[in-house]
Amino acid sequence: MAEQAVETLTEAEARDELARLARAIEAANRAYHTLDAPEISDADYDALKRRNAAIEARFPELKCADSPSDQVGGAVAEGFGKVAHRRPMLSLENAFAAEEVAEFDDRIRRFLGLAGAVSYTAEPKIDGLSLSLRYEGGVLVQAATRGDGEVGENVTDNARTIADIPPRLTGAPEVLEVRGEVYMSHADFAALNARQAAAGDRTFANPRNAAAGSLRQLDARITAARPLRFFAYSWGELSAPLAATQFESIARLNALGFQTNPLTVLCAGPQEMLSHYARIEGQRAKLSYDIDGVVYKVDDLALQARLGFRSTTPRWALAHKFPAELAWTELLGIDIQVGRTGALSPVARLRPVTVGGVVVQNATLHNEDYIAGRDSRGQEIRGGKDIRIGDWVQVYRAGDVIPKVADVDLSQRKAGAQPYAFPKECPECGSPAHREEGDSVRRCTGGLICPAQAVERLRHFVSRGAFDIEGLGAKQVEMFFKDPTLPVRTPAEIFTLAARDAANPLQKLKNREGFGEVSARKLFAAIEARRTIPLDRLIFSLGIRHVGEVAAGLLARHYATWEAFEAAITRATPGSPEWAELTAINGVGAVMAQSLVDAFQNEAERAAIDALAAQLNIQPVQARGVVDSPVAGKTVVFTGTLEKMTRAEAKSRAEALGAKVAGSVSAKTDLVIAGPGAGSKAKDAERLGVEIIDEDAWLRLIGA
Ligand code: IVH
Repeated sequence: MAEQAVETLTEAEARDELARLARAIEAANRAYHTLDAPEISDADYDALKRRNAAIEARFPELKCADSPSDQVGGAVAEGFGKVAHRRPMLSLENAFAAEEVAEFDDRIRRFLGLAGAVSYTAEPKIDGLSLSLRYEGGVLVQAATRGDGEVGENVTDNARTIADIPPRLTGAPEVLEVRGEVYMSHADFAALNARQAAAGDRTFANPRNAAAGSLRQLDARITAARPLRFFAYSWGELSAPLAATQFESIARLNALGFQTNPLTVLCAGPQEMLSHYARIEGQRAKLSYDIDGVVYKVDDLALQARLGFRSTTPRWALAHKFPAELAWTELLGIDIQVGRTGALSPVARLRPVTVGGVVVQNATLHNEDYIAGRDSRGQEIRGGKDIRIGDWVQVYRAGDVIPKVADVDLSQRKAGAQPYAFPKECPECGSPAHREEGDSVRRCTGGLICPAQAVERLRHFVSRGAFDIEGLGAKQVEMFFKDPTLPVRTPAEIFTLAARDAANPLQKLKNREGFGEVSARKLFAAIEARRTIPLDRLIFSLGIRHVGEVAAGLLARHYATWEAFEAAITRATPGSPEWAELTAINGVGAVMAQSLVDAFQNEAERAAIDALAAQLNIQPVQARGVVDSPVAGKTVVFTGTLEKMTRAEAKSRAEALGAKVAGSVSAKTDLVIAGPGAGSKAKDAERLGVEIIDEDAWLRLIGA
């Protein structure tokens, strides 16, 4: 049918046609951005846009706010916004052996002081990525990925495209955060990979990567065209409880319109848990999606609340993983990688082999003892068989972790194969590589003069939990490290980059390959934005051995300011008051303390730290989530027999409410909770005039 001339259209015809054109252009955009073969040719697409523009020009009043003429074809958002989770998104403690399930149950009953049985739910552990959905007044208002558990990415637009995620709920609490797993079925994964391959685009290694890659698309239209699914299995903030038990809560989520896993059952104890594990494992191959284990959760939510959390995992849940997948292949060579802390890590280069659907060509060999067939205490492993280049080795993957070499087939060993000689010098800088007493790892002693260590430290420095500078990832850092005119060899030099670039009339960054005016400006702005940094991030970013994100948070909250932290660590030596204070922090032991002291008291390291600090504006850190409770900030001591809860539970609840639980009474103690049989501690309290209350008064005080 020939097109009607724009000049002869009535207003009503024009309105109809604009609506039709908007739909057609939208459909074409969508098809194009799915990376599928586009449905119409570029010429036809342009014709649609031209006609749309011509009609709008004749009837300007009909042009709508979201007119296709104002849209840039594949424009994508700048990046995902960040979402601070109101309740942290936790991970799960893992177990592999059946005994660990019984231990889990024992531990729970001990913690709660229960003699009787505890009921648990058991359900498949879905191999996808977790997502938190926030509903307010029954309307989906936000979707966020897990991120680091505290802060995730805002993927609301993308989540809205997933059919399993209801946009509205009826009869839900006013505030409801539903948590669960986004995943892709085997069939959808295979079809997606076939489409990607046909279009010459990258294919995904497994359904989980495909699901993650699809959800984390800046262009929600791409997510919309990827068949993602969602199982609900947990929740975050709630304005009213869903039910009194885990099992009923999940049933309630199901009644609200969420998919919940049909293999979820209630178990009366470890025996039933293990038999359900066996049942699920038996069905695993027949399921249409990947699972990697079974998750057990204490059913009674009141008990869950009493059990509480460790730093990143709940005490009331356990992931019982399926055994790892295995394959045999040839060990082609062993490379030594030098890490951030100088550790020499042997990496197996393998003849590529498929393990559980993923092609593996590298695997860790742990350390030199492992290669030699010994564990860290000198005991034989693998019956004492060492691993030699050219051997046939067994490789396995367990969950997300790096593949490992487990075993070696001596019957295939080639004649003349020599035991592997682990290098005694750093392959990167030639410095001696030492092993400390009791350490299974050999370390390069080159410190900052070792280029491998220096680069790894920079990579760590710009990583996600550290400075996380937009546009300055691991790759760029390596590039700048080697750059002859604008080098970045230490963290401090990142912050002098813009000034050095400005001072150099030639070879400005904007003229380099891979950069332009805009990207150079953006990079400098991103660096500038990070000149102000919270103390905990700074401490983590220093990359000091044994000081991870959690420890950095503890240290920052304890010392509050950089000045206080730096002064204390500079003066701390075993036996000093600063050392005593440092090691008294809950979560800081002597090993971590020594590592901090080593870093701050080593001349070269210290110079690098000082140079960095001089570039920064370090924000003090407040005690996190200063919990609003009558005991927050108080030091309390429990003594005597507690009748309503175990010691462990009492301590964990007090700490959750912001109190510090001490083992002995001193002038700093605010409150002593004394049960029957309280002895010397109660006397000390009386002598020092510290308030003493009984267990019931304590429970009333904390509102339990
Ligand atoms: S419960 C507070 N249940 O496993 C407990 N997690 O390894 C929150 N996962 O981050 C998790 N299936 O992404 C739970 N049925 C299930 C699960 C499950 C998969 C994931 C989840 C979590 C990870 C921990």
